[in-house]
Amino acid sequence: MAQVLCHLPKFQDENLIVGLETSDDAAVYKIDEERGIILTLDFFTPVVDDPYMFGQIAAANSLSDVYAMGGKPVTAMNIACFPNCLPIEILTEILKGGADKVKEAGAVVVGGHTVEDDEPKFGLSVMGMVDLDKVTPNSKAQPGDLLILTKPLGLGIINTAVKADVASHGAAQKAIMTMAYLNKDAAEAAAIVGINACTDITGFGLLGHAFEMAEGSGTTIELWADLLPIISESAELAKLGIIPAGAYNNRKHLEGKLLFTSKVPQHIEDIMFDPQTSGGLLLAVAESKADQLMTLLKSRNKTECAIIGKVKAKTDYPIEIL
Ligand code: CO
Ligand code: CO
Repeated sequence: MAQVLCHLPKFQDENLIVGLETSDDAAVYKIDEERGIILTLDFFTPVVDDPYMFGQIAAANSLSDVYAMGGKPVTAMNIACFPNCLPIEILTEILKGGADKVKEAGAVVVGGHTVEDDEPKFGLSVMGMVDLDKVTPNSKAQPGDLLILTKPLGLGIINTAVKADVASHGAAQKAIMTMAYLNKDAAEAAAIVGINACTDITGFGLLGHAFEMAEGSGTTIELWADLLPIISESAELAKLGIIPAGAYNNRKHLEGKLLFTSKVPQHIEDIMFDPQTSGGLLLAVAESKADQLMTLLKSRNKTECAIIGKVKAKTDYPIEIL
């Protein structure tokens, strides 16, 4: 995206706290001395067959960028594309799934817009609120911080396997539940303990989003490949070569930016590049608070969490993998 965005005019506004510069997915705009609003928009094509589940997943994904910024969602607007050859009930189910997730997030749907298009698409534009001293952009990671990931990886691989009809029912269900799960519990735990930086793991995969955090923060991120939380079946599928096209694009995009300091198995590498849909939060937390945060996450958060690496002073590579 950076290649496209660099051709756009630059906006300067003293109230714009977080804008386009550091590849954050959400913007933060100061509204008074204490508070900012968080603004995001995200939508995509169906990742599952069930329209109600798709609505939930797309909404959870859109809401996630507000959680990643340290805020609480307040209002949401639907954005949908829908072909006129499909029964309208399908669109109703998609919107219902989205609305139920917004409700679960404690926010309200206040409107939206649908256009006719060959392929269905759905998502939300979300507005959230945040205390300015609680904003957690991806660009504030500090050397010494530990990195915690709050959902297991492998979602893109399993979605690809489902499309090819080679995923087990159990793996498909696990992926759906993981994608539809809000990052709310993880974000609340992070806010209680206090963290330095955060991003959510979505289309660019763990390595792509970790790279943005490293670059934005002017640091190097060291990742520990054998400690990553992974949906176990995705490892088996990756070994069979079931890898989404996006993973290859992510790999290409990071050419020359990664240093592998030990031998990482090929399928684990593939999982690190795997594009996630509605993935977990990557939290950078001071080492002294990491145990407290892990304890809190284990009691509140319903997806697998793990400490997966650390932030260190900038080296020749933005990302080092052990
Ligand atoms: Co996003
Ligand atoms: Co995001």
